[in-house]
Amino acid sequence: MNVEQALQARHSVRAFLPRVPDAATVSDLMEKAAQAASGGNMQPWRVLALTGEPLAEVLAAVAAAEPEESSISYPPQLWEPYRSRRFENGEDLYRSIGIGRDNKPARLEQLARNGRFFGAPVGLFVAMEQRMGPAQWMDLGIYLQSFMLLASAKGLATCAQGFWRRYSNLLAERLELPQGYQIAVGMALGYEDCSAPINSWRSSRASMEQWGELKGFAF
Ligand SMILES: Cc1cc2nc3c(=O)[nH]c(=O)nc-3n(C[C@H](O)[C@H](O)[C@H](O)COP(=O)(O)O)c2cc1C
Repeated sequence: MNVEQALQARHSVRAFLPRVPDAATVSDLMEKAAQAASGGNMQPWRVLALTGEPLAEVLAAVAAAEPEESSISYPPQLWEPYRSRRFENGEDLYRSIGIGRDNKPARLEQLARNGRFFGAPVGLFVAMEQRMGPAQWMDLGIYLQSFMLLASAKGLATCAQGFWRRYSNLLAERLELPQGYQIAVGMALGYEDCSAPINSWRSSRASMEQWGELKGFAF
C-alpha cells in the first residue's frame, strides 16, 4: 500500500474486533511514527500504549470519574463554516447508527463509548508537557497522522480521540506521567469490525475552493 492508498483507507473506526495486535506491531508503529517532522526536531510527544489489565484499570477509573472542566476541544460559540461542518458530521454519524435528533440518551451512550476506546483492544495516550505551545501541538498532530497512516497500511484501524482530554488530570496521575505533562489526545487501535454499521459511514470533506488557492501556476 502506498501513502496515497493508506490515506484513502484511513478513517475513524468506532467498533473493533477483540483480536489484540501484537506487541511488536504496536511498538513498531509507535517507533516508525516518530519519523514525523517536528519543529526544531524537538519530538515533543510521549506515547503510552495500553492493553489487557492496565487498560481495563484505566477505563474503570475513568468510568467512575466526573469529566474535568478544563477540557475544551473547540473554540466557544463556534462560527461558520466550522459550526455547520461539525454539526453535520455529528448528525451523519448518529444517523449511521439510527440515532435520531431527539434521542439524547442514545447520543450520550455513543459519547460514553469513547471512554471504552470503542471496544478497541489497545488504547494509546499521547501526552506532552503543558508548557509547550501551538507549534508543538502541531508536531503532535503530525505524529498522530503518521501513526494512523502506518496503522492503516498494516490493516489496523484507529480513531483519534480528543475525548480523553476530559480526564487529563486523572489520566496523568494513573499513567504516572512525569510532572508537568498533560494528555493531548487518545487513540483507539485495533482491527476494524467491518460488520458494525457505524464503521460503514464516511465523513465528507469541504471542496478545495473553500480553503485552497493556487497562484502563479500555468494551467
Ligand atoms: C485530534 C482529533 C480528535 C478527535 N476526537 C474524537 C473523539 O473524541 N471522538 C470521536 O468519535 N472522534 C474523534 N475524532 C475523529 C474525527 O471525528 C474524524 O477524524 C473526522 O470526523 C473525520 O473523519 P475520518 O477520521 O473518518 O476521516 C478526532 C479526530 C482528531 C484528529
